[in-house]
Amino acid sequence: MASESGKLWGGRFVGAVDPIMEKFNSSITYDRHLWEVDVQGSKAYSRGLEKAGLLTKAEMDRILQGLDKVAEEWAQGTFKLHPNDEDIHTANERRLKELIGETAGKLHTGRSRNDQVVTDLRLWMRQTCSKLSALLWALIKTMVDRAEAERDILFPGYTHLQRAQPIRWSHWILSHAVALTRDSERLLEVQKRINVLPLGSGAIAGNPLGVDRELLRAELNFGAITLNSMDATSERDFVAEFLFWASLCMTHLSRMAEDLILYGTKEFSFVQLSDAYSTGSSLMPQKKNPDSLELIRSKAGRVFGRCAGLLMTLKGLPSTYNKDLQEDKEAVFEVSETMSAVLQVATGVISTLQIHRENMAQALSPDMLATDLAYYLVRKGMPFRQAHEASGKAVFMAETKGVALNQLSLQELQTISPLFSGDVSRVWDYGHSVEQYGALGGTARSSVDWQISQVRALLQAQQS
Ligand code: ARG
Repeated sequence: MASESGKLWGGRFVGAVDPIMEKFNSSITYDRHLWEVDVQGSKAYSRGLEKAGLLTKAEMDRILQGLDKVAEEWAQGTFKLHPNDEDIHTANERRLKELIGETAGKLHTGRSRNDQVVTDLRLWMRQTCSKLSALLWALIKTMVDRAEAERDILFPGYTHLQRAQPIRWSHWILSHAVALTRDSERLLEVQKRINVLPLGSGAIAGNPLGVDRELLRAELNFGAITLNSMDATSERDFVAEFLFWASLCMTHLSRMAEDLILYGTKEFSFVQLSDAYSTGSSLMPQKKNPDSLELIRSKAGRVFGRCAGLLMTLKGLPSTYNKDLQEDKEAVFEVSETMSAVLQVATGVISTLQIHRENMAQALSPDMLATDLAYYLVRKGMPFRQAHEASGKAVFMAETKGVALNQLSLQELQTISPLFSGDVSRVWDYGHSVEQYGALGGTARSSVDWQISQVRALLQAQQS
């Protein structure tokens, strides 16, 4: 396989590579994560070569056994890297040759690292997406379980971070859970496009030796094969999509984290983070900081950066493989690790969060029922625009008299509209307020129950 320089591509080179360049070019420090899928891809490829008559059965068996040994060394931590191991593909093939001799040199027949690396990456990402899906589902399930258990707790809903209308606490939880169900659905779709086999594309032009790509596809259990060898070796759409998936999921999680950070402040005091997900201050003994949530919020920046960085790398690249593409892996590895940690911490935070229902209830104020006051008049036949105006006048009257909205007397309200009558007192009941919002998607109990069952059904459909 290798020339005197010990390189896979050493044949046409006479000069030595500058050590700085050697290090600059090498990707083994991170693409070693691909050891297992690289062996898996090579095993499938050697079967393809045998089928095409390019390896005898005995040669294939020797290669397969050698590759198993290589994998065993990686698994046991005994694989020794060589200074010339530029990347995982080079390292595994070099070791295979040490183990089985010159037959190893037949493995790469008709294959290029261009189709090899992208096959490896797709295999690796396919597995990782399954793991991330499971973590995301676990988080959504934790949220839905909480929403179900705590659906009778009311608290203020905010728009513009100003008190807006009373809502169920579960309605808030579900608002974030529903966003995450789009992420879990999106991940399954990304996974479909990851699950396409590029192997057999060679460096650019395809495979000239009759390798059956359909056989390779079946061996590696891919859903389809790529259509064009030039596109297959150079497109990283599936990486960009994965990084975008992660970016959007982090957007959602960072928003949920931000709400919880606010709700956990003394000023709100709606929730309390468990000690397991907080830390103290080295200076101020009284402090308990929501570091878990702050880190979730901040990791969004890192993930977006990786997504933007990859798109930058891809933009304007000339056709087919360019070494720029080597940069895809660090983004994928880092983002996968970040997402895995973030999803697990978020699940821990939600499942251990304490809520202060009395504070939530106390934070509700009659002014948040001004909209319901307008709806009261609408139900009596007043057009909404006029009702809005009338309710606004009531708010103003209460403010000028220095009383709460629900302290205005019936007589006072009747100076605004004769449609007010004794039953207006029902408006001032927060439980009654939320129950009006019974249209599907609203905050009434029936609608929250409906949301819970919808999300559960979605999860079940996604998992099967
Ligand atoms: N380490 C390389 C990568 O990650 C493998 C492919 C190298 N191909 C090449 N033509 N030099 O992209």
